[in-house]
Amino acid sequence: MDKLIINGPNKIKGSVAVSSAKNATLPILAATILSPSKIIFDNLPGLSDISFFTQILNSLGVQSSQDGDKTIFMADEINNIKADYDLVRKMRASVLVLGPLLARKKEAIVSLPGGCAIGSRPVDIHLKGLEKLGAEIEIKKGYIYAKTKGLVGSKIVLPFPSVGATENLMMAAVMAQGTTTIDNAAREPEIEDHGNFLNELGFKVKGHGSSTITIEGVKFEDLKVREVNYSIIGDRIEAATYIIAALMMDSELKVDKFNPEHLDFVLNTLQQMGAKLERGENFVQVYPSGKLKGVRIETAPYPGFPTDVQAQIMALMGVCDGDSVIIENIFENRFMHVPELVRMGYDIEIDGNNAFIKGNSELTGAPVMCTDLRASAALILAAMTAQGESTISRIYHLDRGYEKLADKFAGINGNIQRVKE
Ligand code: UD1
Repeated sequence: MDKLIINGPNKIKGSVAVSSAKNATLPILAATILSPSKIIFDNLPGLSDISFFTQILNSLGVQSSQDGDKTIFMADEINNIKADYDLVRKMRASVLVLGPLLARKKEAIVSLPGGCAIGSRPVDIHLKGLEKLGAEIEIKKGYIYAKTKGLVGSKIVLPFPSVGATENLMMAAVMAQGTTTIDNAAREPEIEDHGNFLNELGFKVKGHGSSTITIEGVKFEDLKVREVNYSIIGDRIEAATYIIAALMMDSELKVDKFNPEHLDFVLNTLQQMGAKLERGENFVQVYPSGKLKGVRIETAPYPGFPTDVQAQIMALMGVCDGDSVIIENIFENRFMHVPELVRMGYDIEIDGNNAFIKGNSELTGAPVMCTDLRASAALILAAMTAQGESTISRIYHLDRGYEKLADKFAGINGNIQRVKE
């Protein structure tokens, strides 16, 4: 198992390009199940979550191959409708194969994803929506058994704008007979990209990116078989991580290849804290901004403050002037990075879903352990700011969602090394 050794404090400089968004890629890959066309992606991120999801698709009959930077997917035949526990338990997003399998094969057996480090994360919203579209669903022995005589368009109102449920229902509805509307849909940029991709495949999706999505069903037989080339959007969460890193290290950095509009709330918050930022069309330039001021934030569905940037901004808050508060509204157990941050000198108190972060902490390097994906990023930012050496273990969490993070930081002058344990 690898670990990271970081010697701080660092000043970073130059320019870093973010990879394609993991959270857009996963549902887009799930959608390949729906299409008889050859699909070519020019920029899939090199992440363990993506290779793992590809394995699940392969187990269902989707073929995939690599040609240089291009990854090719072909689902002319789906010959298995069961996503096994052994595959699904490793990654919650595996449940995204449910909607497209039901649409294409009228039947799916998918292991219940179960809990994960950051909360229980049920899939009730996915299942209720699928039932609305005419699926019969049973839970037996830890598996979701879903079947239908043919999905039929319907009006679905989500009780909460779940990202995964919105995507699953979009993929089920694209082949349902008639019109589906999804109200209170999630509005994340990744949903917009997902809808754009479905339309590239020949489906009829409108309103994706807004809270009402309308879908006209298209029959599989009516889809044109052709070659589809697609580029996935840049990763706004990865971008936010590098922007916050530069601010913590009082450095000048260009963060490139993503749409800053997708990070509006985060960038506004950082500016409110005193960050000097310039927004370009597909980059953000960070300028040395000195010590920032503490702030109070609440995580919320898009366009609110993303829960996936909560751990990273917490790392920043500890070195700000003044105290900060974070209210985590999306996941019930997403403060697992706190004890590890405290080992590095942070002063943070937790009360339920509130975190109170004291500013002006003097950080010192320490051995720490990653607990989940975004928590890992927070520890790295803290270690790069802290005085002395830190070792960061269990970085397999990091490899799920950050492509070549150590190399990217090393490329902008970070003192960071990846070594075998
Ligand atoms: C996606 C992202 C994840 C991000 C999250 C919230 C992917 C692959 N992952 O996860 O990085 O942190 O959005 O922005 O895109 N819920 C239910 N019932 C359901 C579905 C969800 O109660 O059927 C709850 C969850 O437990 C959680 C909240 O809704 O508390 C948000 O979940 P959701 O938006 O579905 O997140 P994911 O799609 O799992």
